[in-house]
This record gives sequence, structure tokens and C-alpha cells, in this order.
Amino acid sequence: MAEQLRYDGQVVVVTGAGGGLGRAYATFFGSRGASVVVNDLGGSFKGEGNSTKAADVVVNEIKAAGGKAVANYDSVENGERIIETAIKAFGRIDVLINNAGILRDISFKNIKDEDWDLIIKVHVKGSYKCARAAWPYFRKQKYGRVINTASAAGLFGSFGQTNYSAAKLAMVGFTETLAKEGAKYNILCNVVAPIAASRMTETIMPPDVLKALKPDWVVPLVAVLVHKSNTETGSIFEAGGGHMAKLRWERSSGLLLKADDSYTPGAILKQWNKVTDFSNPQYPTGPNDFLTLLEDSMKMNPSDRGETLDFTGRVALV
Ligand code: NAI
Repeated sequence: MAEQLRYDGQVVVVTGAGGGLGRAYATFFGSRGASVVVNDLGGSFKGEGNSTKAADVVVNEIKAAGGKAVANYDSVENGERIIETAIKAFGRIDVLINNAGILRDISFKNIKDEDWDLIIKVHVKGSYKCARAAWPYFRKQKYGRVINTASAAGLFGSFGQTNYSAAKLAMVGFTETLAKEGAKYNILCNVVAPIAASRMTETIMPPDVLKALKPDWVVPLVAVLVHKSNTETGSIFEAGGGHMAKLRWERSSGLLLKADDSYTPGAILKQWNKVTDFSNPQYPTGPNDFLTLLEDSMKMNPSDRGETLDFTGRVALV
């Protein structure tokens, strides 16, 4: 039999593990040797109410299959208590999967502050609080794996989801910086935009599509990314229905205009095609990429830089 990727002796914290994707992650890691903290607040998908049942059911499921698991019922907004549960029960933490989430879908015309604030609190502050509490342990043991959860809504926008989109794209920036800060300590952080049938999606997708999107089919990619053999960090992935792909930032080759009084809106408009031309793209991975590009461009002659100067030496269209 082929060898399995295993997580023996490791402690995995999965937030929002009482249902949907979180349950699929938790039961998988429980079946592969890890001790699992099953966190779930147990409220509705809109973030109302709370209950211990959701987490308890999954803990029992893991234990019944011979695994090790403990429940935690705190909101991710109190991430330190979730990590404390891992330390008290199992003495360490190796993997954090920030998965908990809710929806407050509403058109931007009708959105209220509470719809905005709750979504940002659960997704952004919740992921921050859990990672912040786990960080000292990861640094000390020079080992950690973090998965943050984004969404296609965050990457590409989605009608009626300004709050959720903002929160989910925040996970990308958060992960990219965490990955940079964690690299020295073997703390690898990636962001996954899943697509799966769950109570969150069951009302917006047709039944035959939902059938093809079992939460279990997002799990293997996450399992690879949090395994000790992984080297990938700071990356964005999409996963669902057996398909997975990496996404990255792409920058057009761009336009450089001399920063003097010839640098006008009209000058930009005249060469707008260069601003939007992706035929010779770059793939930046950090803020310094832009500065290096600027330095290189500054060394070029104006003609190489694609400026069109008229007889006065200024860009003709202003
Ligand atoms: P789900 O509603 O089945 O699971 C989310 C879980 O998080 C629930 O069990 C809920 O009780 C828990 N939760 C909510 N607020 C919490 C809080 N403050 N503290 C602790 N637990 C809390 O939904 P699903 O689909 O499994 O979603 C999991 C993650 O994947 C979410 O972050 C969601 O935004 C994201 N996602 C899901 C997609 C999908 O197609 N299902 C698409 C894109 C992103």
C-alpha cells in the first residue's frame, strides 16, 4: 500500500470545525494521527446564536473512529482561548486552520454598519486572534503551518458581498505578510479559496452542482500545505470539486512617464494601452519588486521608456 501523509504527534486546530469544510478538515486530521481541537461557536450561518452541539458531534465522530480530539466553543474573536485549549489538552500546537466564517449578504445600497462589522470581526479579527495566539508557540518550536481561508468573492468580487469580499481578500494580504515574517522560523502560511457544498452555499447553488462539490475534496490540498514536507508559503490556491490551482499577482509591463510637468492625465491617456498591456507581464512577490522596476526604468532613455515627446520636449497630449 502507498505511504500516507501522516500527522502523528502533531496538534491541529481547526476553527469552525462543527460543520462544512471545517468538519471535513478535522475528521481527516483526526484519522491521520493528529490530535485535533474542534472549535465551533455553533451559531447560524449569519452569525446568530451559539451552541456546543456542532463541535461535540465532530469530536465524538473523531473519537469513535479512534482519533484524538477536544472541543472548544469560543468565538474566533477570542482566539487565545482556542489556542489555550490546544495547549492544555495536548501541550502544543503545530497547525492552525482559520476556517470559521459567516455570511451577511446584502447589496451595498442596503448594507448596515452591523453587517460590515460582524463580517470583518469574524473573518479578519478572528483569523488574526488565532494566529496571534499561536505565533509564540510556532516561533519557539521553529515549526508552524497556517491556512487562512479566502473566497472567490474576495479575489474577484461578488454581487451582494462587499463585506465578505473585503474580509476574504484581507486574508490574502494577511497571509502574504505572515509568510514573510514566519519564513525564518519554518512557519509556512498559505491561503485557500475553497468551493464546497455547505449550509453556506446550499441555497445559492443547484443540487447537481452541490453534489460535485463535497467538502472532502478541498481537504487533500490543505493536507499537503500543512504537512511537514511542504515548502510552499505565501501562496494563494483555489480548490473545489477535485480541481486546484495556484493564483498569483500579475502586473502589466506598464508605462513610465517622466515625473516633471509633462506628467499629465492626458499623457497617460495617450498611452493607456501600455498601462493595460499584459503581453509582457511581471509577477511581483513583494513591494521591492516595484521599486527595483522603477530604478531600472529610470536608467533608461526616454525613447526606450516609450514616451512620445513633441518638439517642445513635452508629451504632446495634455
Ligand atoms: P459552514 O457554515 O458550514 O461552516 C462555518 C463554520 O464556522 C460553522 O460551523 C460555524 O458555526 C462556524 N463559525 C461561524 N462563526 C464562528 C465564530 N465566530 N467562531 C467560531 N466558529 C464560527 O460554511 P463552510 O462553507 O464550511 O465555510 C468554511 C469557510 O470557507 C468559511 O470561512 C467560508 O467563508 C469559506 N468559504 C466557503 C466557500 C464554500 O463554497 N463553501 C466558498 C468560499 C469560502
